[in-house]
Amino acid sequence: MDRDKPILAARDLGVSFLRADGSAVVALRDVCLEVFPGEFLCILGRSGHGKTTLLNIVAGLLRAQHGELRVMDRLVTGPGTDRGVIFQQDAVFPWMRVEENVAFGLRFRNITKRERLEIAREHLALVGLSSVARAWPRELSGGMRARVAIAAVFANDPPILLADEPFGALDYVTRRQLQAVLRDLWRRTGKTVLFVTHDVDEAMMLGTRVIVVKNGGIAEDRIIDLPMPRSDDDIATPEGLALKHLFLHHIGLE
Ligand SMILES: Nc1ncnc2c1ncn2[C@@H]1O[C@H](COP(=O)(O)OP(=O)(O)O)[C@@H](O)[C@H]1O
Ligand SMILES: [Mg+2]
Repeated sequence: MDRDKPILAARDLGVSFLRADGSAVVALRDVCLEVFPGEFLCILGRSGHGKTTLLNIVAGLLRAQHGELRVMDRLVTGPGTDRGVIFQQDAVFPWMRVEENVAFGLRFRNITKRERLEIAREHLALVGLSSVARAWPRELSGGMRARVAIAAVFANDPPILLADEPFGALDYVTRRQLQAVLRDLWRRTGKTVLFVTHDVDEAMMLGTRVIVVKNGGIAEDRIIDLPMPRSDDDIATPEGLALKHLFLHHIGLE
């Protein structure tokens, strides 16, 4: 794939919603965005500023009222196998075993059930869950279910991964572990990731690039030129701290 050519291009995306009282709220205003192959793009912003709206348009779950979105030069009109969504931890099917959950997305492929389960088990191994492949989701912790969701989307092998605050409900240590799991799989596979978060530290830890979404627009767009994998010490450098303060300023903390 040509790394200099956007894998995803949004032009002038605009979305308004009608409130219950009949007034309109502009969720996105004229958003233009190009994402390049292999980027880990963090979409950062406070609650209510349009992050989910933007991600839902990219996922094909929501249509913009104006503007257009192209993925690999094709106009997006709905969901597609080129974009996989990492759902929040509780989006697993409780009536299927862990490995069946991971294999589920592969059911439309022209391969046997045995092969699907094999791919599922390979991906469970990559997220450190081999020992619970035959378990039921209810037997797992929230962090383990989040690993299942990651294994499932990587098993499907889409070039683009989308995640909307996937670790938001997890405790601090588990969240940090899951960030490392996702980062390592991203590095290993070279996929393009769009990752929504309201957490500046999470964006600094994961992003090769961070955009700040504010009042339905992109208020900041920065390449994070820090080592990857990244440590707290990498972020605590003058360069890292300057970026962190810039983002904190945008979300209104400084
Ligand atoms: N289905 C909807 N109906 C009405 N308003 C909505 C709807 N979805 C989002 N909004 C409004 O659009 C704005 C952006 O929402 P959203 O994209 O969910 O923000 P974020 O994900 O950053 O918290 C907010 O003001 C929100 O209340
Ligand atoms: Mg949201």
